[in-house]
Amino acid sequence: MKTTVSTLKKQKENGDKITMLTCYDYSMAKLMDAAGIEILLIGDSLGNTMLGYENTLPVTMEDMIAHTAAVSRGAKNAFVLADMPFMSYQTSVYDAVLNAGRLMKEGHAHGVKLEGGARVCPQIEAIVAADIPVCAHIGLTPQSINAFGGFKVQGKSEEAARQLVEDAKKVEAAGASMLVMECVPAKLAEIITKTVSIPTIGIGAGAGCDGQVLVNQDMLGMFDDFTPKFVKHFANVGEIMKQAFADYSAEVKAGTFPAQEHTYAISDEVIDKLY
Ligand code: KIV
Repeated sequence: MKTTVSTLKKQKENGDKITMLTCYDYSMAKLMDAAGIEILLIGDSLGNTMLGYENTLPVTMEDMIAHTAAVSRGAKNAFVLADMPFMSYQTSVYDAVLNAGRLMKEGHAHGVKLEGGARVCPQIEAIVAADIPVCAHIGLTPQSINAFGGFKVQGKSEEAARQLVEDAKKVEAAGASMLVMECVPAKLAEIITKTVSIPTIGIGAGAGCDGQVLVNQDMLGMFDDFTPKFVKHFANVGEIMKQAFADYSAEVKAGTFPAQEHTYAISDEVIDKLY
């Protein structure tokens, strides 16, 4: 069954947890879709995991469109959610609608995600008015790394906690269809989840959210530049890949790969004519 904003809302109502993973390419999209992952997020974390940047700020609309289009080609049932990169929506409401539209038209996304609470509500309202589903993202918002002064848990003081509750209510009122909460204390995330009627998806926000998201390279053990506390390695694919690369290298050097079964035949008659 295809995942839509309506099926996601029903999942929240029924207490059926939502699964989201970041996904940046066609073959990974096919695997995740086949495994039943409900939302494939083309996160701007691709700046770190795919492009090797130190943070997400250099990621461009062109990067996001290319990766979103690749994921869309591989996703049959999953909801394809594309991140709006840094400076694609902060500059104006007009830019926000235009760039959200590009992710839909050129990337074939089903919805867009942007970072921020109350301060991006004008953008959320305008994008939603263009019939584009929006996922808001509050708590630790990586595009604000320089303003935050590092990656820190958010909402720990009474004032900050109240602000996050307000942000959640405001993005819902602005028309957001779902809400990602990153690095938010579990009890606070649970309160926010009970306060809003839109699905909440947590990353480092505890089990009380309506769903969970992880960066795929993190959960597969393929990315070790930094590992936040909330990451669980569901497999050590990085080690398996390194071993496979080493085995390939050894076989090529030893002349044992390719073997007979990996080669194409030609008749001796044709070969003889070459001499
Ligand atoms: O860019 C990203 O991968 C994200 C997730 C961490 C939610 O925004």
